Amino acid sequence: AETLGAAAAQSGRYFGAAVAPNYFGEAGYASTMDREFNSLVAENAMKWDATEPNRGQFTFGGGDQIVSRAQSRGMTVRGHTLVWHAQYPGWVGGLSGNDLRQAMVSHINGVAGHYRGKIHSWDVVNEAFEWDGSRRQSIFQQRLGGGYIEEAFRAARAADPGAKLCYNDYGTDGVNAKSTAIYNMVVDFRNRGVPIDCVGFQSHLDWNSDLSSYQSNLQRFANLGVDVQITELDIGGSGTGQAGAYQRVTQACLAVARCTGITVWGVTDKYSWRSSATPLLFDGNYQKKTAYASVLAALNGA
Ligand code: G3I
Repeated sequence: AETLGAAAAQSGRYFGAAVAPNYFGEAGYASTMDREFNSLVAENAMKWDATEPNRGQFTFGGGDQIVSRAQSRGMTVRGHTLVWHAQYPGWVGGLSGNDLRQAMVSHINGVAGHYRGKIHSWDVVNEAFEWDGSRRQSIFQQRLGGGYIEEAFRAARAADPGAKLCYNDYGTDGVNAKSTAIYNMVVDFRNRGVPIDCVGFQSHLDWNSDLSSYQSNLQRFANLGVDVQITELDIGGSGTGQAGAYQRVTQACLAVARCTGITVWGVTDKYSWRSSATPLLFDGNYQKKTAYASVLAALNGA
């Protein structure tokens, strides 16, 4: 196959990109997005600050643009993200105890409810753990207690029963203290019937990142009966070094039956959140990089 999406689809997987609707008017951006990917995720447009800037007043303009673009082209959509310690509006920070709990559940109801039936998988909770495996001391952890994660998953299931519900994090690109803490949470959730369907591995990497346990880490989660997804892939570097790391990550996903798809965190180096790292598959002129060729070849079974 000749595009990333079509090549991934050969094995029933998706290949997606994080996008921002304010670039849809740029011809190179739009044509690359429409041609290459069969899944989209909002880089920022579905976050709490964007969707509920004032309590109870929801604004879905950017997210709706992404969903309609995807639907008109037969792409699936990932939802990102319902509960996160960053990019929530100021009013959330002023709430305490039960008020914050009510606000969290209403936010999940409002956003996941609005997109009900249109989202392939939701990043329900994002980045709740520290490197050492302890819980991040976010306002949610501190004011609601550790049970907030399962409360969020239960609310999301009720709001959109058809969406797969994911826990998503970074620095989980191998077997380490952080990924093991998340692994233990998934074991616990499965044992107690807390609804969780997938784990997202962001995979913000560099060309020389240690990938020695990348695949085995995906596999140990898959063995628990959840899907795994590579959700925010970008790899700092250039040329063959960068291409080699992209190839390894792609091959690792293909080797794990329950690794259902890969999303790169942006279309072009020009608009990457880490632009100085040139971490994506298309350069600033929308030309295919060496890394693009290695990913496409890997998806085609090379
Ligand atoms: O929208 C405002 C705009 O009105 C203002 O003029 C401008 C001035 O700085 O800022 C704009 O907001 C920025 C927003 O991106 C949209 O461009 C924020 O400052 C900026 O902080 C925000 O950065 C995003 C970041 O999350 C926030 O933490 C990045 O684009 C986005 O790529 C990044 O994505 C995260 C994932 O959600 C979670 N995993 C890590 C990943 C990388 O940090």
